[in-house]
Order: sequence, then C-alpha cells, then structure tokens
Amino acid sequence: MTHDAIAILDYGSQTAQLIARRIRELHVYCELIPWDAPAERFAQLAPLGYILSGGPASVYSPDAPTLPHFVLESGKPVLGICYGMQLLAHELGGRVDASARHEYGQAEVTVVSEDAPLLADLPLEMRVWMSHGDHVIDLPSTFVPLAVTPTSVAAMGDPARGIYGVQFHPEVQHTPQGRNLLRNFVLDVCGCRPDWTAANVIEESVAEIRRQVGDARVVCGLSGGVDSAVVASLVHRAVGDRLTCMFVNHGLLRHGEASQVIETFQRHLGMRLITIDAAPDFLADLRGVTDPEQKRKRIGARFIRVFESAAAQAAALGQELAAFLAQGTLYPDVIESASRGEQRTARTIKTHHNVGGLPEDMHFQLIEPLRTLFKDEVRSVGEALGLPEEIVWRHPFPGPGLAIRIIGEVTQERLETLRQADAILLEELRSAGLYRSVSQAFVVLLPVRSVGVMGDGRTYADTAAIRAVTTDDFMTADWARLPYEVLARISNRIVNEVIGVNRAVYDVSSKPPATIEWE
Ligand code: XMP
Repeated sequence: MTHDAIAILDYGSQTAQLIARRIRELHVYCELIPWDAPAERFAQLAPLGYILSGGPASVYSPDAPTLPHFVLESGKPVLGICYGMQLLAHELGGRVDASARHEYGQAEVTVVSEDAPLLADLPLEMRVWMSHGDHVIDLPSTFVPLAVTPTSVAAMGDPARGIYGVQFHPEVQHTPQGRNLLRNFVLDVCGCRPDWTAANVIEESVAEIRRQVGDARVVCGLSGGVDSAVVASLVHRAVGDRLTCMFVNHGLLRHGEASQVIETFQRHLGMRLITIDAAPDFLADLRGVTDPEQKRKRIGARFIRVFESAAAQAAALGQELAAFLAQGTLYPDVIESASRGEQRTARTIKTHHNVGGLPEDMHFQLIEPLRTLFKDEVRSVGEALGLPEEIVWRHPFPGPGLAIRIIGEVTQERLETLRQADAILLEELRSAGLYRSVSQAFVVLLPVRSVGVMGDGRTYADTAAIRAVTTDDFMTADWARLPYEVLARISNRIVNEVIGVNRAVYDVSSKPPATIEWE
C-alpha cells in the first residue's frame, strides 16, 4: 500500500521535526528531508504537497539555502513556515526586510482574508508563536495578505495555486490553532487521505518483515522499554517461533522491571526468550568507577560481551545462529544521522545509545521496523498490538540504567536504595494520575550527606533528588510543575521508608542549560 504523502524540506529549524509529528498526528505520512537532498529523494515520495520549514538563515545572505526548482514546478501546494515563507516571497518576486524589529514569543494575529482554504474555520483573532528576525514587506504580485500582526504580514497566500506562507510556527503548542491550520493545508488544500494508521502500519510492517526474512531466524534484544517491545511483537507476528528474544539483565533496572519483562514476553505473549542474568559482571565492572562516561563505556563493553556469548551459547544448543537482528531505531534517529552528514560534530556531550549496540563482527542483517515512526506512533502501534499499558506508556529509560542515576560509585546497596526511592516516586505519580502527563520522572541518588532527626536519634544520610520533566522531544525539557501535595507525599514517603536517605529535594532546572539525567 502506498500512502498519500507530504514532503517537508528541512531548512534547519529546531522545530522542523515537530512539523512532521503534527502531520503524522493527522494520520498522513510525511518525511522530513534536507532541503538540498537529491531531487530523487523527493520524487520517490511522490508528495501531494510540500512544506518548507523555518531555519536560522536570512534569504539575502550569500550562502542562504534556496528553494529547489522542482517544488514550484510540480504545481503542488506549498506551505512555507517562517524562513520558508520568506524564501517563497523572495523566489516569487516579493521583498524581505532584515532590519525590522525582531519578534519572539507570543503574538496576536488578525485574519484579514477569511475565505482562503488555509484559514477555513479558524477564529479571526489567534494567538501564535513567533520566532523570527526577517519578515516579508512586499508580497509577490499574485499573493494577498491572509493575517497580520500590528507590525507585519503574518500569513500570505495565492489560494488559486495553493501556495501559502506563515510567519509564525503552527507546529508548536504555543500556537493553539496550529493543528487546525496544518489540517486545512494537508487534508483540504493538498487533498491527502488520512490513511497512516496504526492498523495499516502493523499490516505493512508484518508483510515487509516476512518478505525480508524469508525462512531465516531473527534475534531481538529486549530492554523493557516500549521500542524493543513493539519491535519484538511485530517480528513475532511476522515469523512466530523463528524469533528469539534476548534479555540481558544488567542489574541496573528499576524495581520489578526484570521480572515484568520475563512475565510479559515469555508467559503472556509466548515468545522464545533467553534471559541472561549478568548483574554481578556489570557490578564488578563498575566497582570504583565514578566518572559518568567511564560508566557508560564499561556498561556498553560488557553488554556486547554478554550478548555475544549468549548468541554463541544459543548456537551451541543446536539452534542455528540467527541471520537477522531486529532493532528499535526510530525516525528521529534516522533524521538526525542524515542531517548530521559530514559536518557531524566530534564533541561528545554524552555517549548516548551506547548500550545494546551491535557487536560489530556478528554479521547480522538488520531489520528496523520502527525506522519511519515517531515515539508517539510506536506507542499507538504498541496499543494496537495489545501490549500491556505499563510497557506502552513507560517513560524512556537510559541504556546504562540506574548506574547514571547514582552519583559516585555504584554499589549493590546504593542500587537497592535508589530502586526503593524510585518505586515510591512512580507509584505516587501513578496514583495521582500524573504519570502520563509527565514525560520522564526518576530519582537520582546523591552522595551528599546531611544531618536529620528520626525519633530521638540523629541521622546522617544521603539525599534523593526527584526529577520530573515535560518535553516534546527530549532535546529541550522543562521541569514538571507537580502539585505541592504530590511532592509532599513523595518526599514524606521517601525520607520515612527508604533507609539511607533522610532528605529529598526537587530539581527545578530546565534543559538547556541542564540535561535531563544528572550524569
Ligand atoms: P539528557 O540527560 O541528555 O537525556 O538530557 C535525554 C534523554 O536521553 C536519555 N539518556 C540516555 N539514553 N543511553 C540511553 O540510551 C544513555 O547513555 C543516555 N543518557 C541519557 C535520557 O534518559 C533522556 O530520556
């Protein structure tokens, strides 16, 4: 089945990925493609319309990104957002002013042309999010203004050709009518059918896995998270018992997680599962290590060794070695590695995604059924596959697990302390109905001792830092405004129930400049 599709030309805006997510939320397939990618990339998609993202450049700078000719020549509808609108104006004979006052943040726009399909059924006054320096001062001759702010044209259009530009960002949450505007463009102006649904994704993906794998065997590593769970379920549906799942318990998981993985996949879903309990090895590797990067490296290296020896054991047991390895690569990973290209920065911010990485000499062929999906889509697919809610909605968990949430040395005792505190936090968030509205929440165990009193005695014990964030993409994040009563219950329970902790603090740092994890 081929899908009606939209091509989004990526001009480098921080929010370009969000445009793609919003379009997918309308159940329309789209791809975010660098603006200077070969024309065939776009042709393969056969898009019914184009969206030009925002970007940091100015159209008059000498090396400014340009509009590929095929976009306007195609005769298909185009929507330019921010830099995309300026580019359209520039290409079509209008004028852009770089000297005007910059507009950042909330703005009110007034619709001045009600009958353009792009703004159909939207209110005449709208709050929008602006973030631009340059703006369009002379519209191209066939264009009319559709909406204005007191200082600039906020939207323009040539409705007969289906070409539109908006100076604000419809993709961000601070533009409440943004979804409706994008829906008007994608469904009405471009005429896309909303056929990108979880049921279709499952059907197509299962057929594709069968085609790719033939009669061979597949191995899939489970981590306990939603991505690997959905991959395993899709592959299981496609090839049944020719899938073997491997679960390396590194002993750095949250409370009850390891047993839940075994319970769910082996008993409940009936998959072949090899569990390797390697906790003592990981703990031994971490002895005396306090540097976060060292922790990640040692865990990554041990993971590969454990995985290799498990695969060798499986082979020795008479099972021929699997020819395919199923991995949970998501669409944002694909976009990021494509856009980094040659200019990839060498600076390591954190050595991410290093755990569960492939042993290089194992010669597996890869199956990546989630390559086209965003995380929210993976969750919808997981729900449609009937996976349990605790797995589908589980917060992301870093590969190195609790090791990077224990500041300082990781020991069995400190792992136990952290697990107890973390379990209390999650339990209280769930019972307050807040677990899903928070994107990620956890406790960090700090080696900071302070004095406390308990009964008649004095204590001198560690500190638990509570972290809860909301975020759209984990690239930026804000600390969650948890209600005081909920924080009070969490703190009360942690300092009373968890031995070794006598103080709880709440982390009120946003990302940037802080990161989500503490290490
Ligand atoms: P930071 O701390 O960089 O985290 O703001 C962003 C997201 O990435 C997760 N994270 C990791 N995931 N291996 C992983 O697989 C890692 O080493 C790692 N470090 C951070 C983090 O939990 C958050 O969701």
